[in-house]
Amino acid sequence: MSKTPVSELLDAELPRFTYGADYNPEQWDPETWLEDARLMQQAGVNLVAVNIFGWAQLEPLPGEYDFRRLDQVVEILHEHGIGINLGTGTSSPPPWLTAEHPDALPMTADGTRRAFGGRQAYCPSSPVFREHSLALVEQVAARYGRHPAVKLWHVSNELGCHNAHCYCPVSASAFRAWLEQRYGTLDALNEAWGTAFWSQRYAAWEHIQTPMLTLSTGNPAQAVDYLRFSSDEILDQYRAEAAVLRRHSAAPVTTNFMVTAHIRALDYWGWAAEMDVIANDHYLDHRLAQPTAELSFAADVTRGLAGGEPWMLMEQATSAVNWQPHNIAKTPGEMLRNTLTHVARGADGISFFQWRASVQGSERFHSAMLPHAGTDSAVWQSVVELGRTLERLREVAGTRVVADVALVFGWEPWWITDLDSHPTTELRYLEQVHRAYNALRASGVTVDIVAPGAELDGYRMVVVAALHSVTDEQAATVSDFVAAGGHAVITFFSGITDGVDRVRTGGYPGAFRELLGVLTEEFFPLHPGETVALDDGATATIWTERLHARGAEVVASYLDGPLPGTPAVTRNAFGAGAAWYLATNLDEVSLARTLARAAADAGVALDPALAGSELEVVVRQGSGRSYLFVINHGDTDALHPATGTELIEGGDIAGTLVVPAGAVRVVRLSAQAPARPTAESTPDAIRESDREEVRELR
Ligand code: GLA
Repeated sequence: MSKTPVSELLDAELPRFTYGADYNPEQWDPETWLEDARLMQQAGVNLVAVNIFGWAQLEPLPGEYDFRRLDQVVEILHEHGIGINLGTGTSSPPPWLTAEHPDALPMTADGTRRAFGGRQAYCPSSPVFREHSLALVEQVAARYGRHPAVKLWHVSNELGCHNAHCYCPVSASAFRAWLEQRYGTLDALNEAWGTAFWSQRYAAWEHIQTPMLTLSTGNPAQAVDYLRFSSDEILDQYRAEAAVLRRHSAAPVTTNFMVTAHIRALDYWGWAAEMDVIANDHYLDHRLAQPTAELSFAADVTRGLAGGEPWMLMEQATSAVNWQPHNIAKTPGEMLRNTLTHVARGADGISFFQWRASVQGSERFHSAMLPHAGTDSAVWQSVVELGRTLERLREVAGTRVVADVALVFGWEPWWITDLDSHPTTELRYLEQVHRAYNALRASGVTVDIVAPGAELDGYRMVVVAALHSVTDEQAATVSDFVAAGGHAVITFFSGITDGVDRVRTGGYPGAFRELLGVLTEEFFPLHPGETVALDDGATATIWTERLHARGAEVVASYLDGPLPGTPAVTRNAFGAGAAWYLATNLDEVSLARTLARAAADAGVALDPALAGSELEVVVRQGSGRSYLFVINHGDTDALHPATGTELIEGGDIAGTLVVPAGAVRVVRLSAQAPARPTAESTPDAIRESDREEVRELR
């Protein structure tokens, strides 16, 4: 399905960024709505999401609809020139639905029902929920489908955030129907699930259940199919709602994804094609070691889902959230840096949760565009400043990020690699992907995130991290890419099993053995906290393996640990390209060094001055123009080579850009200036007079 350009959603003559928030007028009175609309204008807000949690007000009792308040809100916003991203309102059913139909409540893996009182308390397979939710969508779509203020449809909200996995009998029956569709016959299912093991062979479809809590470990193939089913089941709710909307309205349809480190239930590679606009919600997660690196990763994943086209950030926080153990407020400039990192990485729309901070309910202490303190606040000032900044950057909207390196990531691999009964619990899929990503980011390398098996033409290098289960076709995309001159870096525990997670015999890493020119007999995971030394000065943790080079050149070997003298890092010339194998978990610096070496080997342009610096540099290109984004995460001013016009503060830049501590600068590069670093454009080429200038600034 071809996408609607985000920058054209507002019918502006020229592309522009959308800017706004979730707006929950249900929580406020009509006088406040008017004040809200005026303040939205002041902040430069042009698109707000409404009716996200409106169901209980729109349909207080079954079949009794009341649109009076929403009608008023829609008109007020329209009169103030603010576009609407209209929610279908189905994200949380009203109390009557599950009070009258308790079977529609979700069931957890231990067989207990979850109660009404939070949100998303419904079973995704419930026919009762489906019927009532679609009846509501029908009403909403018929009423507002042609309203000129409606620029976008927002189906439900963060589908599957809380209720992706329901284990109730209705879900079990839907799971069986899904399995019949997938396998056709019980024999095929038994084969794929390996039910010869532990007396699990099924003789009738009705005997198959959802993978509820068992005494011992369960069947891994059943577990993964259940996760696939669950993702599909939730997507089906989206499809059903979108179909109703499309009967009544020509406005594009989307829902907000959760590309984030703590939610992995939805396989968005399978969802992306169904969206008219790709939209993501992202919150800085202070439970992670590197929250801003994860932000960049999530933005790049979202761009990958959008096929490289611009996308929309549907939610983020102006400051603290309320749902982490310690809800850290943003420091001055941090919100702008976060936002412009999303923009640098392809966002053409920026929205927050939420417009006005709630005074009741469990999200009272979540930040908003308009905080409890009102407009006399640093948060409000930053919101107004961001509105202005997005206008100044308007010409960037519609341009694209271009990358030389692809990094493979997927939700299915996340499920499979993290299954239990693997060699070590220390190996976590996302952590491995993040490590590779962070190492490249720290070297200033922009990457595209691609699905396993994606086309790799046009890239110089691909990185495959901990991709445990791969089909022959997926493996061939990597081998063919290398044979044709590309370079690959593959990390440990990749290529071990096939598409149904059956071990590939004859030596690990089965699917990539030939490409890598190595053969591993046995894994030797390390004790938690154990470190081994390599002969090139690196150290490593988590994993080693008894590996033999079979044609590959040995780059580094272990000095100690369980396998002294055994190769740990290898490089194999293959066809016209080369494939590196990282058979252990290298320390951060060595991983960055090794990936940078492989990238340089692949002909990726690297700026050595960026390695280890606090600058994040990304280029967007389009219509013959290049825009250089430089984000300074550090607390000292920095220099970066650039020639062109700076768009945030204004001014010509002739050779050297000064980026104050914590600031962001965006330069429209002069036509003759290189968009990518070259040997001449590295900071070594920065004139001494500019260095003086920065010293004075400090
Ligand atoms: C999600 C939801 C919002 C809100 C925010 C809080 O993104 O979509 O409704 O709960 O989290 O961070």
